[in-house]
Amino acid sequence: MTTIDQQLAELRDQINYHSYRYHTLDDPLISDAEYDRLVQRLRQLEQEHPELITPDSPTRRVGAEPLDAFEKVTHPIPMTSLGNAFDDDDMRAWLARIERLLPDNLPENELAFVVEPKIDGLAMALTYENGLLVRGATRGNGVEGENVTANVRTVNSIPLRIPTRSDGPPAPARIEVRGEVYMPIADFNRFNQQQLDKGEKIYANPRNFAAGSLRQLDSRITAQRPLAFFAYAIGYVEGAEIGSQQQALDYLKALGFPVNPDILHTTSFAAAIDFIHKWMERRDSLPYDADGAVVKIDSFALQRELGVVGNAPRWAIAYKFPAREATTKVLAIKGNVGRTGQITPYAELEPVNIGGVIVRNATLHNYDDLAKKDIREGDTVIIKRAGDVIPQVVKPILDLRPADSQPAQPPAVCPVCGQPTTRLGDDVALFCINAACPAQLVRQVEYFVSRGAMDIEGFGIKIGEQLVAEGFIKDIADIYFLQRDDLLKLEGFAEKKVDNLLSAIEASKQQPFDRFLTALGIRYVGNVVAGLVVSHFPAIDQLSRATQEELQAIEGVGPRIAESLVAWFSGPANRSLIDKFRQAGVTLQARRTGPEQPQTLAGLTFVITGTLPTWSRDQAQAFIEQHGGKVTGSVSKKTNYLVLGENPGSKLTKAQSLGIPTLGEQELQNLAQA
Ligand code: IVH
Repeated sequence: MTTIDQQLAELRDQINYHSYRYHTLDDPLISDAEYDRLVQRLRQLEQEHPELITPDSPTRRVGAEPLDAFEKVTHPIPMTSLGNAFDDDDMRAWLARIERLLPDNLPENELAFVVEPKIDGLAMALTYENGLLVRGATRGNGVEGENVTANVRTVNSIPLRIPTRSDGPPAPARIEVRGEVYMPIADFNRFNQQQLDKGEKIYANPRNFAAGSLRQLDSRITAQRPLAFFAYAIGYVEGAEIGSQQQALDYLKALGFPVNPDILHTTSFAAAIDFIHKWMERRDSLPYDADGAVVKIDSFALQRELGVVGNAPRWAIAYKFPAREATTKVLAIKGNVGRTGQITPYAELEPVNIGGVIVRNATLHNYDDLAKKDIREGDTVIIKRAGDVIPQVVKPILDLRPADSQPAQPPAVCPVCGQPTTRLGDDVALFCINAACPAQLVRQVEYFVSRGAMDIEGFGIKIGEQLVAEGFIKDIADIYFLQRDDLLKLEGFAEKKVDNLLSAIEASKQQPFDRFLTALGIRYVGNVVAGLVVSHFPAIDQLSRATQEELQAIEGVGPRIAESLVAWFSGPANRSLIDKFRQAGVTLQARRTGPEQPQTLAGLTFVITGTLPTWSRDQAQAFIEQHGGKVTGSVSKKTNYLVLGENPGSKLTKAQSLGIPTLGEQELQNLAQA
C-alpha cells in the first residue's frame, strides 16, 4: 500500500521528468494528453490534501499573488559583466593580453577555450538549497539585484527541484546557477501578432519582452509568457568539485538544466574564431536571438590567476555580432508604386548605421499594418535589419512622439501619376489602376529586362527611368523599337554604350518563350508557372485563346493563375502589345525539342480521364499537342475523343451520354500514326 505522500512524490517526479524531456530536451516521451492526465491527477490529490502541497510541485508554476514591489537581494558573488570585442583583431588583442599574464611555461594544450552563444536575454541567478529552488534574482547592478523568485518559478525549463533526471548526480547542498532567461523568437512573433490583432501594444524585440515579462509584479502574467532558460555558469557550489567551465556545463546538464547544445571546447584559438564566424552566418536561422559569442578560458585555476578588472573578468570576452536594430527618426512616409500598380508605404529615415550598413529607407509593408502600428511622420522609431531582409520599421517610441503629430493616411491619389487609388476586392493592398502610370511602366520595364526574365544585359533601372521619362518607352514592347539616334541624345549615352545596349536587346529576341511569358509580369505567373503553361500551350496564339478551364487542367495551375492569365490576354491593350512583340520578331513560341511531328491530330479535341497504362496525363497531353490536337478539361459536344484509362471519373458517363468515342493509349498512338 502506498501512502498519499508517496503517491504525490512519485507523481511530481514523473511530471518533473516529463516536463524536462519536453521543455529542456525537446524530446518528449509521452503525449501531451498523457502529460495533462498526470497533472490532473496531481491537482486532484493536492486538492484533497492541501496540507501536502510542496513548493516544488509542478502545479505551482502558475504564478502567485501579486507583489507590491520586488525585494532587493545582494549577490553573494557579484555578477560581473563582460568586455567586448567587435572583430577578429580585438579577439587576438585579448588573447595577447592574457597570454602576457599567464605563466610562460604553460603547456600548449593547457590553454583551452569554451565558446558559447551569447543569448540576448536577461541574466538570472538561481539558488538551490538541498535541491530546491529557493531564489531567483536578476543581475541588477551586479552587486544588488531583485528577487523575482515567483516569476522564475513559472519558467518551464527552470527546474523547481534538482536533479530532474533520475540518473543525475545528487543535488549539492547549495548551488547558485547562472544563466539567461530569454524568449524564443517564434513565441515572440506569435505573441506580437496576437497583440496586433487585438490592437494592443507590441514589443520591440524578444529581449525587451522577456525583460518586461520577468519584471511583472503579478507572476500570473509572467506564467502566460513563453520564457525559456539556458544555464551557462555556476556562481558558487557547496558539495561538488568543479574545476573548469566545461565541467560546470556538464554538471549543470547532468542536474537537468538546459544548456545550449552549440558550445565548443577547444585548445585552438583559430578554431574558436572560426566557430564564431559560423555562428554569425547561422544567426538568422536560430530559434533565439544571439547578440554575440562568449569565449571563456576553460580552467578555473587560470581564471583565478587572470582575475577581474573593473567589473569584467579578464578570462572571458564577448565577441559582439553586428547590431540589427537602431533608433532613428521618420522624416516622411511615402508610397512606392510597383509593377502591378500596388502602392507600398515606406519610411524615409534620418540615415542610421545598423551593423555597418547605412539605412535610409525602411518598408512599412502595407497600409493596414501601418495603421495598426500607428507609425507617423516625425516619430522616433526602432528599425530592424536582419540578414538580407529589407529594413523594416518595428514600432514607434510613443514617449518621444511630437505633440502635434498626425496619423499617417493612405494616399487618395497615386504618388506618381496623381490618379485616384483603389483597393481591389478585400485585398489589404492599395493600387494605382492607371495603366499609363509611368511608375508602373518603369517597374514593368525593370522586370522585363531583369535576369530572371528577358535578361537584357546593361539595361539598368536608371536607363528604364530615363527612357520612360523621355517618352521613348510607352509600353514594354517599345524596348524593341528604340532608335539609335534617340538613345544617343540621352544623358551619359556614348556610341559604345548605345550599340552594346541595342545588341543586347536584339539578342533577347531569341530568349525561350517561357522567359518571355515570365517577362510580361502577369500576376501569379512567375518562371515556374510560365514553364508549366508553355509546355501545354507552346505558342502565343494557342495560349491567348486558352480558356480558364483548359489552363486549370494543367497540373500546378490553380484557378487564381488561370483567371489571371485569361484576364490578361482578354485585354485589348495587351493583345496589341503582343502584336507589337510579334512585329519586333520576339520569339513567341517554344522551340521544339524533338523532331517536328506530323500534325495528324489537328482540329481534334480530346479529354483525358483515368490512369493510362504508361503515360502520365501530362505526357498524353503533350503527345496530343505535339501532333496538333487540343486537350480540354471537360467533356462537351465539341469533344472528339475521350482518352480513357483505369478508374475513369464522371467524364466517361458524360461522354457516353453524348455518344463520344473513347480511345485507349495505344489507340491514340495509332490514330496519330494515320
Ligand atoms: S558569462 C563573467 N555566458 O551577457 C561571466 N554571459 O555582459 C559573465 N550572457 O548579462 C557572464 N550569454 O546575461 C556569459 N553564455 C554566456 C552568456 C552571457 C549571455 C549575458 C549575461 C550578461 C552579459 C554579459
